[in-house]
Amino acid sequence: MRIAIDGPAAAGKSTVAKMIAKKLNYVYIDTGAMYRALTWKALETNTDVHDENSLGALADQINISFENTYSGQEVLVNEQNVTKEIRNHEVTNNVSYVAQHAKVREKLVEMQRDLAKEGNVVMDGRDIGTFVLPNAEIKVFLVASVGERAERRHRENLDKGFESDLEQLKEEIRRRDKIDSERDVAPLIKAEDAVEIDTTSKSIEEVANSILSLVQSKN
Ligand code: CDP
Ligand code: CDP
Repeated sequence: MRIAIDGPAAAGKSTVAKMIAKKLNYVYIDTGAMYRALTWKALETNTDVHDENSLGALADQINISFENTYSGQEVLVNEQNVTKEIRNHEVTNNVSYVAQHAKVREKLVEMQRDLAKEGNVVMDGRDIGTFVLPNAEIKVFLVASVGERAERRHRENLDKGFESDLEQLKEEIRRRDKIDSERDVAPLIKAEDAVEIDTTSKSIEEVANSILSLVQSKN
């Protein structure tokens, strides 16, 4: 079984995907982390995030891999652990530019399909149900209000020990959603056959249980 979970920033995709993968003993694949890893490398090497050819070449050169440890999933770029770095503000504010380019997507989608080829995967992103795994057995599209999503990121930052500006977070989320939804290649959009779940006032467990019920109904 392949479970595709798509939706905008901070809709709860990765938290819920990890929980489901753990319950079902499936492999979790965080495709956003792959676009973030390439963006981190582009910033490190002063590669212009609007230069498709250079980014495509960079994507061909680097090796992105995941490692499961007791504390969670680690992300490696050419053996260097970049798990923390790929979540920084600069990467977050540039990743949607990098992800717009066809040459970048071609390379990363190939890697994603390869990672999913054995089945029993939960994959989250923006184009999993529409493009990466169009024949996935389960497709879910998570949404939540912008206000709730910004609050979630705000709470996450507080947990990490720093205060953020809620209005700025809202603005950044809106901007990223807009670029992701309006790009020409595999934009953020609900697949026709995806089940939409509004997570605004739902707990993580409630959302995970709804998806697990969908899985059971297919068995
Ligand atoms: O977790 P968060 O919602 O902040 O984002 P993410 O899932 O880590 O994805 C970061 C960015 O990567 C997104 O805003 C998209 O620009 C891009 N992305 C994409 O284009 N396609 C995917 N399948 C996954 C992510
Ligand atoms: O992967 P995505 O960007 O869609 O979102 P996430 O990183 O899984 O979730 C963003 C934050 O919202 C996390 O801190 C989750 O714990 C929280 N969350 C929540 O409060 N309620 C939900 N139903 C789902 C996630």
